[in-house]
Amino acid sequence: AERLRPAGVAQMDWPALQAAVAACEACGLCKTRRNTVFGVGDTQTDWMIVGEAPGENEDLQGEPFVGAAGQLLDNMLRAVGRSRSGEGTKGAYIANVLKCRPPANRNPQPQEVAQCEPYLARQVALVKPKIIVAMGRFAVQSLLRTEEPIGRLRGRVHRYEGVPVIVTYHPAYLLRTPADKAKAWEDLCLAMETAEGL
Ligand code: URA
Repeated sequence: AERLRPAGVAQMDWPALQAAVAACEACGLCKTRRNTVFGVGDTQTDWMIVGEAPGENEDLQGEPFVGAAGQLLDNMLRAVGRSRSGEGTKGAYIANVLKCRPPANRNPQPQEVAQCEPYLARQVALVKPKIIVAMGRFAVQSLLRTEEPIGRLRGRVHRYEGVPVIVTYHPAYLLRTPADKAKAWEDLCLAMETAEGL
């Protein structure tokens, strides 16, 4: 099943990894994507944001979180003194579990997540962040290998490959459920405290 994903992802440098994702045909999403969506931001940073999958805008532009949810994410980053560019602020690196858009934004399927996960694992290994903020059920459940809902995982520090992980709601969910923004703010504060070793 892995024949169309290049071998050796776990040893790749950034250019090789980016090229491997751009050429990936490891799952059926390659047939319907317009662009792969690798990741964006400051690769030297200590903060990494992990989302679910590209949506329509991301698929068109080849960059994660460029639609409405992305604007909220940028505002959330600004609230903690960060930005995706890292220009004039601290930075953040942003990537999704899936690098290709599921048709009509349907949920990622387990075998798609399994095929794509080595890319995210390598991105984490290359960035070596002090903290990962996992946004939404799919990011959380695939990084932490759990079926527990976000509400039961928030508020404490988890680990992915040794890196502390904070769990929070997806910005698209927060757009629909603004009452939970206060909880997301608590989660970002916990991420700041954890990254700073408090
Ligand atoms: N939602 C995500 O999880 N990722 C994106 O890149 C855009 C929307």
